Amino acid sequence: MKQNTVTVEKEMLSDDEIVQSDWGRSNPIPAKSIQPPKLNQAVINDILQTLTLPQKELCAKYFYDNEGSNLFDQICQQPEYYPYRAEVTLLPQVAQKLAERFKKSIDLVEFGAGSLIKVKHLLDHLPNVSCYYPVDIAAEHLQVSAANLKKCYPKLNVFPIEADFTQKMKLPKFSNSIKLGFFPGSTIGNLSRSKSLEFLNQVRRSLGKGAFLLIGVDTKKSASELHRAYNDKNGITEAFNLNMLRHLNTQTGANFNLEAYEHYAFYNPTESRIEMHLVSQFEQVVSIDGHNIYIAEGESIHTENAYKYNRQDFMHLASKAGWQVEDAWLAEHNQFSLYLLSAR
Ligand code: AVI
Repeated sequence: MKQNTVTVEKEMLSDDEIVQSDWGRSNPIPAKSIQPPKLNQAVINDILQTLTLPQKELCAKYFYDNEGSNLFDQICQQPEYYPYRAEVTLLPQVAQKLAERFKKSIDLVEFGAGSLIKVKHLLDHLPNVSCYYPVDIAAEHLQVSAANLKKCYPKLNVFPIEADFTQKMKLPKFSNSIKLGFFPGSTIGNLSRSKSLEFLNQVRRSLGKGAFLLIGVDTKKSASELHRAYNDKNGITEAFNLNMLRHLNTQTGANFNLEAYEHYAFYNPTESRIEMHLVSQFEQVVSIDGHNIYIAEGESIHTENAYKYNRQDFMHLASKAGWQVEDAWLAEHNQFSLYLLSAR
């Protein structure tokens, strides 16, 4: 498999130790050399800026190191987290509809592809996908997942793209096939109103005129059901939220104390979104690259939003971004929706 890899933001290596054994006097090898972790200055600058806002924030993209991607996969298996199950139940029937509609070969581009698990529900029913471009920020996780996918679909051309899909990205030149974007899981909900519009516009421009986008969107529902989904009993969402601090310690040399924060997630009905926060259990000072950030007892760091959309809201957003709704599917009890959009 040819791996055409575009690197936008590289994961930093952790502070691995390189240990070499001393085999003999005639050929001396240093017994032990320690590689200091490489710090990511762009991440340092970004978090220094968002941690000095009146409401402290950290960008949700920092959830996704290797460990964060694994924790997210575990969230999807929690009984309370309905979006994953609802979407995966819907996907085979949607894929069959796409197979009836698209007779030519398809170039499939998945944004924020994660572990490349969901796409299998499309690939199994959509035999004319010839090239698959998974885009994800967690570089190492992406490479491993791409190699595993290739084993299951040996004829499929897989071209992983290491990129932050929220940033402008250059996609490779496509063949003459149908361009189909795939943005499942309601990841659109993790973008602010303005960023989601920007993203949908940018995807439309990158995929080009005549392209399609299959997008998963979580629906508005009762606050208690939403609350349960982001506060699972096994504490996996809590671990996922806290893992961001561990990831940032590695990336930036910061000294966040993971035990000093509590996971807090709730539904904000005015904004139609779940908000995730990390709440400081006591007054503390975090040091990042020589800067001291004061955090009061009970103060929160806002780590994620997950907006929920009804049909009318989403159709309005899509149309503003130059997409036309071609078809829409709803999971049982209106738990989740999938839309097929076309680029006007
Ligand atoms: C990736 N994204 C769509 C998930 C969501 O539901 O907003 C991330 C997540 N955060 C906590 N649980 C799941």
